[in-house]
Amino acid sequence: MDGNGRWAKARRLPRVAGHRAGVDAVRRIVRAAPRMGIETLTLYAFSSENWRRPADEVSDLMSLLRHHLLAELEELDSAGARLSLIGDWRAMKPDVVERLENAIESTRGNDRFRLVVALNYGGQDEIVRAAQHLAARVAMGEIAAAEISAEMIEAELDTAELPPVDLIIRSSGEQRLSNFLLWQAAYAEMWFTPVLWPDFDEAVLREAIEAFAQRERRYGGR
Ligand code: IPE
Ligand code: MG
Repeated sequence: MDGNGRWAKARRLPRVAGHRAGVDAVRRIVRAAPRMGIETLTLYAFSSENWRRPADEVSDLMSLLRHHLLAELEELDSAGARLSLIGDWRAMKPDVVERLENAIESTRGNDRFRLVVALNYGGQDEIVRAAQHLAARVAMGEIAAAEISAEMIEAELDTAELPPVDLIIRSSGEQRLSNFLLWQAAYAEMWFTPVLWPDFDEAVLREAIEAFAQRERRYGGR
């Protein structure tokens, strides 16, 4: 979800206004996705590198997270949505962690739609954590190093319980992954749009899905 800052700048507004408009876009897309037949949607909300931003911006993003994501949950729950998180979110402030844990727990039984939020997420960090777990198992003598397979690495990733990634969308004209779902992107389709995240709406999402439907996926075959 990129482009909040540029959206605000174009309107001579403070960056936080862009982040607030970004929250409105999240709300629109989370409502539109299940209506369009999307079963799982992952939003890259805060990366493990976003801590490098100025402290006041980090604190604005955290308060938006506290007040909005969590306030939306009741509605998510009544819409049959289940919340999951990926990333090192347990390293966040204890009050945020506690509220997130409650949200995950209270929506656990829902199966109409899966909303995954990537929080304090970095693809390299995720792979590092998986490697540490497997290395610990080798050290304990549970498995041999040579036994480690792609499936075993996958089972250690934050996305272990989630379906494979079909499509990665990036807004705001940037054409890079920026540490998002690095392992999972191996055979994912990518779609880029110049639309800034606060302007992202159902029509843009539809455009992405239509482009995806035209793609021929071969997974290395022919
Ligand atoms: C939102 O957009 C990204 C988040 C951390 C939520 P940006 O803040 O990166 O916006 P630009 O790239 O400055 O336009
Ligand atoms: Mg950006």
